[in-house]
Amino acid sequence: MNTANASPVIVALDYDDIQAAKTLVAKLSPELCRLKVGKEMFTLYGPEWVKYLVGEGFDVFLDLKFHDIPNTVAKAVTAAAKLGVWMTNVHASGGPDMVRAAKEAAQSASIGAAPLLTAVTVLTSMDERQFSAVYQTTDIAKKVSELALLAQNAGADGVVCSAKEALLLRKQVDRKFCLVTPGIRPHGSDSNDQIRVMTPLAAIQAGVDYLVVGRPITQADSPFDALCAINKSLAI
Ligand code: C5P
Repeated sequence: MNTANASPVIVALDYDDIQAAKTLVAKLSPELCRLKVGKEMFTLYGPEWVKYLVGEGFDVFLDLKFHDIPNTVAKAVTAAAKLGVWMTNVHASGGPDMVRAAKEAAQSASIGAAPLLTAVTVLTSMDERQFSAVYQTTDIAKKVSELALLAQNAGADGVVCSAKEALLLRKQVDRKFCLVTPGIRPHGSDSNDQIRVMTPLAAIQAGVDYLVVGRPITQADSPFDALCAINKSLAI
């Protein structure tokens, strides 16, 4: 685990081709960012890919958003911790027992420092129509707050949320409870399919701890320069 990293940037490795991902990773540096492996790359390339990135010295966020019975989630988190990942996550809606079991597994199974355990509140892809079909209410902000507090009370280290929710959550959760947000776009970059975007600086000013950034770095002419520009905008 690379504890010397002062950058809040987590680069999302959204690739279906491991060589393309390796080429990108070779242009980055563990001192300047962390990396996120999600469902696509993990399903394609598995634990060996995660071990490779950890072996290259990167802090790895294994973004598999576990949601199952507590025993099963605990075993999955145990497996993640044994890979040496820096962060992994679950769905807060799996309930307090599930989140608590995940946290205990992270602490007892890690090979070094325990991975941070974060929890997804409400997926940012949920609009009011989708949300009300699940929860019979359109008050997304209230549900995000409730699930964040559920996660905190069950021992999670933070939540994955929209940057737009960060200001509200920052007032409700402990300072050390970390907020991890995607949908980050530097000034002038393409928003792609993200609807509600925020610049890196605005997100940090809203109380976000870690910024998940994909295409603005991975699709840049120079990913290294794009990463450095974001860090510089944050005075890092
Ligand atoms: O390329 P871009 O910066 O949009 O990538 C954002 C990353 O964050 C992707 O890996 C995406 O799956 C992830 N993510 C997201 N919105 C969420 C949760 C995760 O964009 N609510």
